[in-house]
Amino acid sequence: MFLWGTATASYQIEGAVAEDGRGPSIWDTFSHEPGRIRDGDTGDVACDHYHRWREDVALMSGLGVNSYRFSIAWPRVQPDGRGAVNQAGLDFYDRLTDALVERDIVPAATLFHWDLPQRLEDEGGWLNRDTAHRFAEYAAAVADRLADRIPIWITLNEPFVHMVYGYALGTHAPGRTLVLDALPAAHHQLLGHGLAVRELRARGAEKVLITNNCTPVRPASGDPADLAAADAYDTLHNRLFNDPVLLGAYPDLSAYGTDMDGVRDGDLELISAPLDGIGINYYNPTRIAAPVDEGLPFHDAGVTGHPVTGFGWPVVPDGLRELLVGLRDRYGDALPPVYVTENGCSQPDEPGPDGTVDDRARIEFLDGHIEAMQRARAEGVDVRGYYVWSLLDNFEWAEGYSQRFGLVHVDFPTGARTPKASYHWLRERIARP
Ligand code: FCB
Repeated sequence: MFLWGTATASYQIEGAVAEDGRGPSIWDTFSHEPGRIRDGDTGDVACDHYHRWREDVALMSGLGVNSYRFSIAWPRVQPDGRGAVNQAGLDFYDRLTDALVERDIVPAATLFHWDLPQRLEDEGGWLNRDTAHRFAEYAAAVADRLADRIPIWITLNEPFVHMVYGYALGTHAPGRTLVLDALPAAHHQLLGHGLAVRELRARGAEKVLITNNCTPVRPASGDPADLAAADAYDTLHNRLFNDPVLLGAYPDLSAYGTDMDGVRDGDLELISAPLDGIGINYYNPTRIAAPVDEGLPFHDAGVTGHPVTGFGWPVVPDGLRELLVGLRDRYGDALPPVYVTENGCSQPDEPGPDGTVDDRARIEFLDGHIEAMQRARAEGVDVRGYYVWSLLDNFEWAEGYSQRFGLVHVDFPTGARTPKASYHWLRERIARP
């Protein structure tokens, strides 16, 4: 059965940040620091999904999806990131899981979508190797409770984005600006993934995946300097997080004048344990030129000549086909079945005078990308699922509530949900044979 779903993440939709024993996460801390988030927004209330989840499950049911990718908030399960399990926090996901199963919606749970317990950040966060072990302990606690009903487990969401924005550039929590010194956050996240896989397997998890953000990298020209820069960027964005998982080795980082420190015997064996699938998040391709100044060995030259989303991201549907086929060509038999675990676009959607939300650009976006995915399948890539980001308009990290990605419009002051035209369109699209 091909999986058609929507995706969300805990901090972006739940709200209820101090309820039922939830501890603070790095995103609570970060979003409350002045100047970090556009308009001073926070996820304190977000979509209030923690209270309105029944309505949201009903929306999914009405949409006709057969899967839902959500994330579990670590600080609800272990408020301090370690030790005793807060059963009240797990109860929430238990109820949600049962409601999904009852409606024949396959739950796909992500264990880490960036909301690290603040206590662990105080001890170095993902720069600290111990966090990988804490993550495995948390994964075990969640699986003890839910592996009997959740068939699809995703360890990490986009460790690349978390490392770059969170630890290298500081535009996301925890706001560190370490540039290349952020690299240990890559290895420790991946080690956490590997250790968590072992715990999930021991508890009978049916399918275990990791989700990576990937981009097809296009050199700005055939000039050798541009080609070398594109290769360096591809190494950082794509290969750094796919190679160790799929091939058991880090790529050559010499273009960055470094290699991966802190790798101990046995780490790569854990990290490369076989998976049942790989989650791929695709938003846009990247065009790379030779560096314009000292520092990093590439320059993001920007993809031009395409329509753009609300975020300003270029809309290039065939980039999804290019990416999927490229992954198959690069990894061959080492590539497990692929799940497109996120794809979507932000648009400045507001209800019209009649109350409906006519998000034609999103329909066009999704239509083009679904077609591109189908072309990749026709070219032999084993794609098993496609999840739209996102079910609801939500807290878009540093952009606060300014970027609306939902199939369902959310009026943030009231929490009122209005399915957009794209929601109705997707229902028809999914129903098509
Ligand atoms: C991805 C994130 C997701 C959302 C989309 C727009 O990088 O995984 O939480 O913010 O981008």
